[in-house]
Amino acid sequence: MKIAMVGSGYVGLVSGTCFADFGHSVVCIDKDPAKIEALNAGRIPIYEPGLEALVADNVRQGRLTFTTAMRDAVAQADAVFIAVGTPSRRGDGFADLSFVYAAAREIAQSLSGFTVVVTKSTVPVGTGDEVERILRETAPDAEVAVVSNPEFLREGAAISDFKRPDRIVIGAEDERAAEVMREIYRPLYLNAAPILVTGRRTAELTKYAANAFLATKITFINEIADLCERVGANVQEVARGIGLDNRIGAKFLHAGPGYGGSCFPKDTLALVKTAQDAGTPVRLVETVVSVNESRKRAMARKIIAACGGQVRGRTIALLGLTFKPNTDDMRDAPSLSIVAGLQDAGARVRAYDPEGMEQARPLLPDIGYAADPYDCAEGADALVLVTEWDAFRALDFDRLKAIMAEPVVVDLRNVYWSRDIAKLGFSYTAIGQKMNALVE
Ligand code: UDX
Repeated sequence: MKIAMVGSGYVGLVSGTCFADFGHSVVCIDKDPAKIEALNAGRIPIYEPGLEALVADNVRQGRLTFTTAMRDAVAQADAVFIAVGTPSRRGDGFADLSFVYAAAREIAQSLSGFTVVVTKSTVPVGTGDEVERILRETAPDAEVAVVSNPEFLREGAAISDFKRPDRIVIGAEDERAAEVMREIYRPLYLNAAPILVTGRRTAELTKYAANAFLATKITFINEIADLCERVGANVQEVARGIGLDNRIGAKFLHAGPGYGGSCFPKDTLALVKTAQDAGTPVRLVETVVSVNESRKRAMARKIIAACGGQVRGRTIALLGLTFKPNTDDMRDAPSLSIVAGLQDAGARVRAYDPEGMEQARPLLPDIGYAADPYDCAEGADALVLVTEWDAFRALDFDRLKAIMAEPVVVDLRNVYWSRDIAKLGFSYTAIGQKMNALVE
């Protein structure tokens, strides 16, 4: 199959590269000449484990190319994927679809032969209808079908999520288009990945419902964690106790500082907006959004409490800034609210992150950046684990105790064992465990 991928950002680049790896011929297109130049020179503009090698391999095999010019790639393609950004619109939180519609207009000018235009970007229900309207208006004679094919890729695990998906969702209104999509994903369902062919609006809503459900699951366990702290229970054991029930499932029950990233915050807001517009508000999701927002700010108060109630003039060391490990993405990271809360209370903040510091600098210009975890902890009044990078799992706590001004550890990801750390003489605060678990 010949595929044109419009948009070579995170989703476009990962999807295009994996399609090429299946054996399809893929052209990744982007408006940004600097990005295309970098990709052509073998430099990958994002951090995603395994992607650089996979891109290099497929470029070498001649299956993957990059260009700024849409015309030829679209004219030759069996399927054109739209994988451009859909940021939250300032003010109302609704997804900004101007990039999607602009791409549709441009694609329409180059269509030739039967072509399936696929929305890969996460788009609100009804966007496929509008894309189809634009295509038919701009190119009335084109033989074209519009399909929705949402992605379910986690940053940091995107390649394995793409190649070993739990399911593939295809929303098509036309059997010929569905057949093209089945052909594109054939290498996957040979691996027995269920492929769900459904209506276009259903596929669009499925993506939002999946992300909102996962965000709800996280928010639920986060509230249970707060309750655990008050009543002397342990949230990790509660999560295990409920997660072993197959009807609930063990995943996404890890309590933490609140969800962040490029998808959950944006997609939950967009779903809330769609539902309000449709006259059937999703109150549960509205609550999830607001509970998660206040949770991120509450984490700063938790750190301040662990420091005895005041942090003015004190140095707080943060380990991890990205919204989760194995990414350099700072979008909606809880660290942003945590730093703001600490600075408002008069603290000095110093941080270390294995991959995220470059992206963090413009967002957090007035904190200190350290060279490693120990440099970060030197002279600090508290050490806070914000993101659970592997590099922070086996720290030398004897060494940390010797270099810190105060032996205070706040673990917002429940990575450390309270007993081990408290034995070394640290005051240790985690999530959903009794506050300041000091063990003799
Ligand atoms: C998510 C979805 O998983 C993916 O299917 C979708 O298409 C895009 O959004 P991503 O944002 O990359 O992927 O990361 P994910 O691993 O899902 O984590 C999202 C956020 O939830 C992170 O801030 C993470 O720390 C938090 N989280 C996740 C928890 O706090 N607890 C959990 O148990 C799981």
